[in-house]
Amino acid sequence: MNIKKSLLPLLLATASSAMAQDAPNTLEIDLSAKPKPVSPILYGLMTEEINYSYDGGLYAELIRNRAFLDPSKSKDIPNWSLDLKAGAQGAIRVVDTTPLTDKLPNSLEVEIQSAGADKPLRVLNNGYWGIPIKPDTTYRVSFYVRGNPAKWNKDLKKNDVEPFSGSLDVSLENADGSVVYAKTSSPAVNKQWQKMELTLKTGPDVKPTTDGRFVISVKDPGKIWLSLVSLFPPTYKDRPNGFRIDLMEKMLAMKPKFLRFPGGNYLQGDRLWERFDWKATLGPLPFRSGHQGCWNYRSTDGMGLMEFMTWCEDLGVEPVLGLYAGYSLKQQYVQPGPLLEYYVQEALDEIEFLTGDAKTSYWRALRAKYGHPEPYKLKYVEIGNEDMYDKAGTYDARYTQFYDAIKAKYPDLQVIASCRAVKSRKPDIVDDHFYKKSEWNFKNLDYYDKERRGEGYPKVFVGEWATVESSWTVKDDSIPPTPNFGAALSDAAWMTGLERNSDLVVMHCYAPLFVNVNPRGRQWSTNLIGYNNLESYGSPSYYAWNLFANHVGDVTPPSKLQTAENVQLPHSVTRDSATGKTFVKIVNPSDKPQTVRIKLTGATEVGKTGKLETLSASSPNDTNSITEPTKVMPVTSPLKIPGSSFDQTLPPYSINVLEFSANTKP
Ligand code: AHR
Repeated sequence: MNIKKSLLPLLLATASSAMAQDAPNTLEIDLSAKPKPVSPILYGLMTEEINYSYDGGLYAELIRNRAFLDPSKSKDIPNWSLDLKAGAQGAIRVVDTTPLTDKLPNSLEVEIQSAGADKPLRVLNNGYWGIPIKPDTTYRVSFYVRGNPAKWNKDLKKNDVEPFSGSLDVSLENADGSVVYAKTSSPAVNKQWQKMELTLKTGPDVKPTTDGRFVISVKDPGKIWLSLVSLFPPTYKDRPNGFRIDLMEKMLAMKPKFLRFPGGNYLQGDRLWERFDWKATLGPLPFRSGHQGCWNYRSTDGMGLMEFMTWCEDLGVEPVLGLYAGYSLKQQYVQPGPLLEYYVQEALDEIEFLTGDAKTSYWRALRAKYGHPEPYKLKYVEIGNEDMYDKAGTYDARYTQFYDAIKAKYPDLQVIASCRAVKSRKPDIVDDHFYKKSEWNFKNLDYYDKERRGEGYPKVFVGEWATVESSWTVKDDSIPPTPNFGAALSDAAWMTGLERNSDLVVMHCYAPLFVNVNPRGRQWSTNLIGYNNLESYGSPSYYAWNLFANHVGDVTPPSKLQTAENVQLPHSVTRDSATGKTFVKIVNPSDKPQTVRIKLTGATEVGKTGKLETLSASSPNDTNSITEPTKVMPVTSPLKIPGSSFDQTLPPYSINVLEFSANTKP
């Protein structure tokens, strides 16, 4: 045994207690006083279609522009190309003469003038910044195809064009086609639309890459049309039309209690007709046209209302459903009164669709037809999003109209106001948003300490917050897409204030949650979790969040912190009243270690050991990225607790959670 090494913990302990003799910082926790409650759903998630969060993100579809509806400024078809290198002749074009449905009116016409087994005509899709290829992986392929019918020549009194009846080869390849990772063939194509469903399996020796291609090859002359071309890797719980496994796992590790969806601005759309129209997102994919989102790209609506609910069920969280409230981003609004009634009814129908249980309900029957006969759980709805930006000032009246109609039919629903511009009703909860620099956060740690509460005042949902040091509009690569450790310190500090005030702040969530880190993949500067098509990583703020959300009790005992001059140590204390487990969170944002004397009053028994979780970095600029995903990670160490008063030294630039048990008189 290395004696020096074995002595180290002792030396450190002595050093720490020597320093602690004159600990200038004191945190007193009063376990005998009546604690305040902690909301059981304090930590949650906020999502919307931004930064390729769904398409090109959580929604695991790998084919981009699968229904040929993405607009193009040139002759090129976005994400599709033709490869004639083998010597075939032909052309591809998007046409609306051969629709699959009225919702998917476009198809890809593939004209094969000459081709053969040795010189196939190849149609390629390059996915969302490439198709991710992994070893030993089974991909589900599906597409609709029809071939040209025979053509009757009345002069010859016979067909002079044979119907297309060849089969198609489907493969996954590298960017230049020199490596084929997986290959299969379809049955013969006929002249009616037919859905092909195939699988592609990669071998064990395939090297993972982000830069694969999906290829459909044709060996026979003629014409075919393709629609709704789809490729899915394995999904979470193996669900068809499902979600990326790594991102689901990252969210589960955040211990969320709710999911706010579908936005954000995405709920509103730029214009009234670009809102999230929930009815248009239901049912089989050929009947979902998708729509123009407000973040400069089109959404497939593969992530529809029922997929959001599956997402909630899979995470085991409460849905917080954003209801479109008649106001869109380009200052378009629906006048409150009779004109707004249509949208109020749309919201009531949405709630009925999700929760209706009456056998006679049309909406219940539709939900059952689409696979979910049981009502979904729904307790929280939010009326609109950030309606304080409605310059016409119509929100008070719009909220009132929605509130009255919803409460009349669903009195148990909690009806959240999207801002504080409501005077005619008392909202159950109001949604506050904060995108602030760390300087502001550290000056406003007591923001909610000062907020009025109690009878007559709504509870608070901090439905979007994040430390944003740059302008949120930075979309290029001049700053990283996810926050650095300096921002994580500020985020953790901000969360201590939310947690301490959780009798009032009943829910909160960071936003945006996701970002595709590829060039032009983001529309928002600072985001919590980054990914490409193959891998994902958590930012330092993600790990700060996890430390907080994974260590929270059901009550907040009163606590008082006294620090040396010019020292800020944002803190919060919660306790599990059933087990006595106590969680002390302290952020040390400075470049110096800080010792805190922790004094527990009213504790009858304090556990001798505990656990310390620390997230720290050598510089606030340190960060995680797609190439260095785990540079800043929490470290767990044992905690020795000598009694009801003890000293703890916190490293410079650190976020700390101390966990120990402390019993009180019953
Ligand atoms: O989170 C990004 C955007 O910020 C949301 O869509 C919007 O609600 C807020 O302004």
